Amino acid sequence: MASEACEAPMTEPSEASADATAPPQKEKVVLLFPDGAPPETAEAKAARLDELKAKHIQPIKREYLVDTSAGGGDAREEKSGRGQNKKRPVEKPPAEARTAGDPAGLADETSRVPFDVQLALRKREYKFLTARGATEASTASAPPLLKERKLVDFSGKVYVAPLTTVGNLPFRRVLTKYGADITCGEMALCPNLNDGQSSEWALLRRHKDEKCFGVQLSAAHGDQFGRACEVVDKYGDVDFVDLNMGCPIDLVCSKGGGAALMRRNKKVRSILEMGLERLSVPMTLKMRTGWDEDPKLAHTMAGYAQAWAHELGPGSVACVFVHGRSRTARYSRAANWAYVETVARCQDDAIPKLPIIGNGDIMSYADWEEKRKTAPSTCDCAMLARGALIKPWLPTELHEKRAWDISASERLDILRDFAKFGLDHWGADDCGVGRCRRFLLEWLSFLHRYTPVGLLERLPQRMNDRPPKFVGRNDLETLMASDDSRDWVTISEMLLGKVPEDFSFTPKHKANSYAAADTTAKPTDWG
Ligand SMILES: Cc1cc2nc3c(=O)[nH]c(=O)nc-3n(C[C@H](O)[C@H](O)[C@H](O)COP(=O)(O)O)c2cc1C
Repeated sequence: MASEACEAPMTEPSEASADATAPPQKEKVVLLFPDGAPPETAEAKAARLDELKAKHIQPIKREYLVDTSAGGGDAREEKSGRGQNKKRPVEKPPAEARTAGDPAGLADETSRVPFDVQLALRKREYKFLTARGATEASTASAPPLLKERKLVDFSGKVYVAPLTTVGNLPFRRVLTKYGADITCGEMALCPNLNDGQSSEWALLRRHKDEKCFGVQLSAAHGDQFGRACEVVDKYGDVDFVDLNMGCPIDLVCSKGGGAALMRRNKKVRSILEMGLERLSVPMTLKMRTGWDEDPKLAHTMAGYAQAWAHELGPGSVACVFVHGRSRTARYSRAANWAYVETVARCQDDAIPKLPIIGNGDIMSYADWEEKRKTAPSTCDCAMLARGALIKPWLPTELHEKRAWDISASERLDILRDFAKFGLDHWGADDCGVGRCRRFLLEWLSFLHRYTPVGLLERLPQRMNDRPPKFVGRNDLETLMASDDSRDWVTISEMLLGKVPEDFSFTPKHKANSYAAADTTAKPTDWG
């Protein structure tokens, strides 16, 4: 789904702000244990840590805990020096990127549908081969469906799942730099693609660094999907096309797309057939456990997919992704990996099996090892979503099988990369800087949830555990852990210059909240 259009022009980072190199002012923070942790027996400590685990609270070392009872205020607020923006070092966008015209990085991007094609789509002059209203491939029983397709091997890879708004091209470049093997574009709606909406087509763009790249399409009918696939196949540069069967948003489900497809196997068959007729690459299906918690539907749907894939030829369906939650569960409970294992096992032994790739709650190598044990029959592709948003270096941790105690300045370097890639992609004029900032802020609404490894009493950090108030090992670490969006704006100013006076920001995704304690999430939130 296309994200926002270009916003009002922003001010250029001023020379005055760029020269402000003084470190943020330190303010008094009341620590819970000012003289360090009181002595504790090993048994008492183990019991305390178990109690925190049961309450979904992160076990942060005592010397970093902040006393929130005294004064009642948010001590991190003081520590982060909010309101001290002018005193923070502010960087300008790289000079070479600040020329007007096309964004500097455009030459390195492929999968761009030419403007005249988009125009023809908009004017409804594009000559589609797929007839409007058709429900099955015109050549259903003829060989073209059985064409040879370039295979995609997900086994042993780290895959960054589609992420609406936040999974943009600059973010994926960052993830690729940190070891992601496979990336995917944000969900694009076929009706919007077929109408030639350029903001929707922009979601399909790929950077040359993305080694293996898929796009995710959402459709409710075979003809919608087939038409979009025609254009994707002709002008795109993709290794696979993923069908969205998990989007919980009413706007999509009420029309029969997204998670609603979990209950419409005939439609899925039609979409698959009409898509494959037009594509020279394989398809993948990304589904949920079901619509409601019960009955569970993914094992039945994956069974159908296995049979269809057998019929439509080798390489037609590369794999099935199963997000271990139902549409209605959102993030209110842990992903059900035991059920993902059931989906993998339920396939028919008499015909070739599809790789089933589980998804949900992978935030560390320890998590990944645990999921492998729970679901040994699934494909060993680590599919990341919020874990990649909160810890963009997670692919490195998985490849190197370790927990990385990354420093705050290294994390700021990651954001510096994003700012550079963002200006490459969106342009370095006022509009480009504004968009880059918006998307950086959206990302920061997830990034701040990271708790540094060095502060934890027991590893790893779990996706849904809430941290108590804590200070970092330095001011930057404290600032980066702030859950106040004004602090995220401060971070954005360190990279992209000052915001205009009337600037405000509210994150789009509610999914950044902690599921375990969040009962306010709406069905419109991702998950
Ligand atoms: C911000 C956000 C955006 C998402 N956008 C998409 C999307 O466009 N398409 C999709 O199939 N899933 C989307 N998802 C779901 C994820 O791909 C993934 O299946 C889910 O978050 C479970 O993985 P996790 O527990 O590791 O986060 C999104 C999730 C989040 C948090």
